[in-house]
Amino acid sequence: MTISDAAFSCSVSDEPLSHADSAIGIIISRNIRITNRTSDSNSMWGGRFADGPSSIMREINASIPFDKKLWQQDIRASLAHVAMLAECQIIEAEDATRIIRGLNQIAEEFGAGEIAEDLDLEDIHMHVEARLTEIIGPVAGRLHTARSRNDQVATDFRLWVRDAMDQVDAGLLALQNALLDRAEEHAESILPGFTHLQSAQPVTLGHHLMAYFEMFARDRSRFADARQRLNESPLGAAALAGTGFPIDREKTAAMLDFDRPTANSLDSVSDRDFALDYLMAATQCSLHLSRLAEELVIWASQPFGFVDLPDSYSTGSSIMPQKRNPDAAELVRGHSGRIAGAMQALVMTMKGLPLAYSKDMQDDKPPVFEAHDLLGLSIAAMTGMVQEVAFRTDRMRALAESGFATATDFADWLVREAGLPFREAHHVTGAVVAMAEEAGCGLADLELSRFQSVDERVTEAVYDVLSVDASVASRSSYGGTAPVQVRAQIVAARQKLAGEN
Ligand code: ARG
Repeated sequence: MTISDAAFSCSVSDEPLSHADSAIGIIISRNIRITNRTSDSNSMWGGRFADGPSSIMREINASIPFDKKLWQQDIRASLAHVAMLAECQIIEAEDATRIIRGLNQIAEEFGAGEIAEDLDLEDIHMHVEARLTEIIGPVAGRLHTARSRNDQVATDFRLWVRDAMDQVDAGLLALQNALLDRAEEHAESILPGFTHLQSAQPVTLGHHLMAYFEMFARDRSRFADARQRLNESPLGAAALAGTGFPIDREKTAAMLDFDRPTANSLDSVSDRDFALDYLMAATQCSLHLSRLAEELVIWASQPFGFVDLPDSYSTGSSIMPQKRNPDAAELVRGHSGRIAGAMQALVMTMKGLPLAYSKDMQDDKPPVFEAHDLLGLSIAAMTGMVQEVAFRTDRMRALAESGFATATDFADWLVREAGLPFREAHHVTGAVVAMAEEAGCGLADLELSRFQSVDERVTEAVYDVLSVDASVASRSSYGGTAPVQVRAQIVAARQKLAGEN
């Protein structure tokens, strides 16, 4: 059977087929032939497999439905390997040339359309080799000299994860730039800063947005760090013990843009730290995205009313016409759960595996692929929302002014100007806040005599610190919320990003 005979497109056909074409047979039987063969040893679950245990094995063994994603990496690594084999005179240059031509043709074919899947050919490595054999004949078999699928998959997957890390980095850079632009626009806008989600002290919106800039900067550094560790070539470790052929691992490493070959062949074929590093960094990044998403959900709610989410990232309700739901933000929040779940899945797969390769490790790919898709979408959606969200700064300011958010400023004033110990100032402030609360007004609205009824050392000058503007302007310590500090942070951040190029 050729690969193309087993095209996945056959899966929807309900023509009875010969089950000699096993890949198709499994698919057909899964979709259509739900029989009830109670006399089988597999009576509980075997009915759907027309061919019995061998087709079950074929299906559980095959990774092509998901590892076809690695086709470009597989061909790239094979090109490097065959070039090295020829340069080291392990195979004839003429054979290498034919193999290279064949591989390039396969790259064109796979690039142009669907890869025809055949469960009998298990994985992408066998699919490429089988197609190569069809194109150039038995000489294709020389490609697999001095290598095994074990070092092959470890190499392909590293190449894929490295690309994935680069894509995440580019996405996060765009998100950082979006945050910088909005932070600059709102370096002076004031909103209540919260602790325990209770109004605490006024902060600037630019400062709040720059907090996320810092988180995504750390995420990028985690991916960069993981990328550096990943960047060693396992190719040439062969099945587990290395090879007796005089290969040149430095050469293949350089051709694949790895920094160096890995040092231990057993570790090379059984190490999936790079995938876990990716998933752990992705999980941490998705937590940051989820926290920002949560803020947008809260801010978009009517009681807050801090933002109007753009139509492009919201949906309406089919029954309540007034509603505009923050679906994109909610899904970014939700996706973080799935990304953390993918990380857990690979952690549990790897736990307790003895050296070297075990087939369990084939399960490394689906969680990484899933997490990467989800993370990429989440970053893109968040970047769009940050760029397009409308901040209702009037509403933010009104809430900052209403929540006694400048109580700490009053206490600090008592310490600084009236010489009270902070604990006493805290006590006096509590009494003044209670008074304002009872009067139903803000601190700045209380008459001086009311302040003096609590502590006679309060003077007219106190009003200078009771406004939210005075409050934020005063917090000009390094990293503080004062507009002057925020602008300095933005300038430094822009310089840092420019320096990366
Ligand atoms: N499809 C396999 C994987 O993803 C390739 C390695 C198979 N090696 C083996 N010895 N069976 O892990």
